Amino acid sequence: MSKPIYVLSGPNLNMLGTREPEIYGNTTLEDIHNTLRERAAKSNIELECTQTNNEGDLVTQIQQAGSKGQAIILNAGAYTHTSIAIADAIRAIDIPVIEVHLSNIYQREEFRHHSYISPLAMGVICGFGANSYHLALETLISGAQS
Ligand code: DQA
Repeated sequence: MSKPIYVLSGPNLNMLGTREPEIYGNTTLEDIHNTLRERAAKSNIELECTQTNNEGDLVTQIQQAGSKGQAIILNAGAYTHTSIAIADAIRAIDIPVIEVHLSNIYQREEFRHHSYISPLAMGVICGFGANSYHLALETLISGAQS
């Protein structure tokens, strides 16, 4: 089996399902993880799915994914817009990172329009709700198979 794909989610994403459902939808992060795992299993790919509210933990998880994984699907939540530490962690690893957001950050407040991650990412998917994660996984799976 190939190396796992890491699905890393940052602060407040544990609240999906009840958090501002008009923006983020009704699907829980657990539901997202379960559906992603089912899809990955069909392609014989293992997923490591985690969520943390702590910036340093997210840095550590990115480092670990960099040494053990084949790619990262990353929703860094609000740290997207603030964290040089997370950007530096991405710079320090050598596997592709796809940045995802459930909401379309460009339709929202100005402070969400800047991402420290986007210039370092393989690509950015935002605005498709839970599907943003799924589109990222499909991209990685099709890349892995081609
Ligand atoms: C988010 C967008 C961020 O601006 C916000 O801080 C989040 C979630 C998204 O998935 O749409 O926590 O990353």
